[in-house]
Amino acid sequence: MHMSGELPLNIILIGFMACGKSTVGRNLFDLLGYPLIDTDSVIEQRAGKSVRQIFADEGEDAFREAETELLRELATTPATPQIIATGGGIVVRPENRMLLRRLGYVVWLRAPLATIVRRTRRNNARPLLQTEDPVARITGLLEKRDPWYRECAHLRLDTAGLDSRELAVGILESARVFFTSQPTASCPPP
Ligand code: S3P
Repeated sequence: MHMSGELPLNIILIGFMACGKSTVGRNLFDLLGYPLIDTDSVIEQRAGKSVRQIFADEGEDAFREAETELLRELATTPATPQIIATGGGIVVRPENRMLLRRLGYVVWLRAPLATIVRRTRRNNARPLLQTEDPVARITGLLEKRDPWYRECAHLRLDTAGLDSRELAVGILESARVFFTSQPTASCPPP
């Protein structure tokens, strides 16, 4: 992929829990060889504990603050192009939505409600879904967050029926088109 303009050549994956961001991120890594950053994993490594434990010990706000700090850092530290897979709630803060757009090409992965429910059912790693009625919680969160994902995304991808490699190839192609159509510093828009 060629450098174009001021926008970093990162590919950022956003979307609700269990929509495949980490898996598609790994496929993009296989295709591109760019470093893969998973915001949840970086936050866990830095805190020395799991996301679940961070929520339990310090509360959701502390976790959201860690997400914002990491995005600020990524947006201000010059780096070679990266693939950035994010946590599903990263779009909750307006500052994060602005930072995501500034970081590069933002891809919103979506999956049907039934798929999200099935994939998260037996997994207790997601503190927001540890409730009596996870389906109602998922539905409510999706409703609230959809406009925020939409606000951030350059590309929306419905993942149903596609495997993660196909998705990664599609993302790569559209990222190429996107980056090559950005105005460059040496070629200002008319
Ligand atoms: C969250 C999603 C999780 C993780 C945390 C909060 C959310 O990431 O960041 O549990 O608010 O949707 P995944 O989207 O990778 O599950």
